[in-house]
Amino acid sequence: MGKTIILLAAILVWAVLADASVFPAYNGNVPFDHKMHRGKFPCTDCHEGAPRHFDLDRASGHKLCIGCHQKVKAGPAQHCSDCHKTS
Ligand code: HEC
Ligand code: HEC
Ligand code: HEC
Repeated sequence: MGKTIILLAAILVWAVLADASVFPAYNGNVPFDHKMHRGKFPCTDCHEGAPRHFDLDRASGHKLCIGCHQKVKAGPAQHCSDCHKTS
């Protein structure tokens, strides 16, 4: 029983590390589900050139994330707490 829980926790940690990232922000970190987004859009919608890690700040993050959510009318675009998780 205990071993199963440890194994499940390890798998969960691995899955989160592999497929999701979190942008740190003082008003609440912003989790980003790369795998979900990657499945819906071509890489070039978000990556210029070869896809790799890039950083976002308030202006570029809001432009990229909120900009697309508004354009496709899906995903959080209005409520700060839909992206900025304070707990
Ligand atoms: C679609 C998701 C999304 C929504 C909605 C959103 N934000 Fe953000 N916000 C981001 C991302 C991504 C960043 C970049 C984080 C980073 O700098 O690492 C960011 C950055 C910020 C920062 C800078 C934080 C820092 O540590 O420098 C502030 C302040 C901020 N947002 C305020 C707001 C406010 C206020 C709202 C609501 C009106 C809002 N955001 C709604 C995604 C969002
Ligand atoms: C909806 C936007 C979006 C789409 C579509 C997208 N990505 Fe990303 N990707 C991001 C963001 C934002 C980051 C930065 C997160 C990070 O690196 O922490 C990222 C990071 C990456 C990284 C670096 C990961 C790391 O851990 O350093 C790779 C590699 C990558 N993407 C590949 C791809 C490929 C390949 C595709 C297409 C199949 C794709 N991405 C589609 C937004 C996107
Ligand atoms: C190219 C378009 C596009 C970009 C860029 C984009 N998103 Fe999204 N996002 C979507 C769509 C479409 C959905 C709705 C998915 C659904 O409900 O099936 C979504 C949903 C979400 C959700 C809700 C997920 C859920 O499980 O309900 C969050 C949170 C989110 N996006 C965060 C972000 C952040 C943070 C960024 C920027 C780093 C970002 N998105 C960039 C298209 C985009």
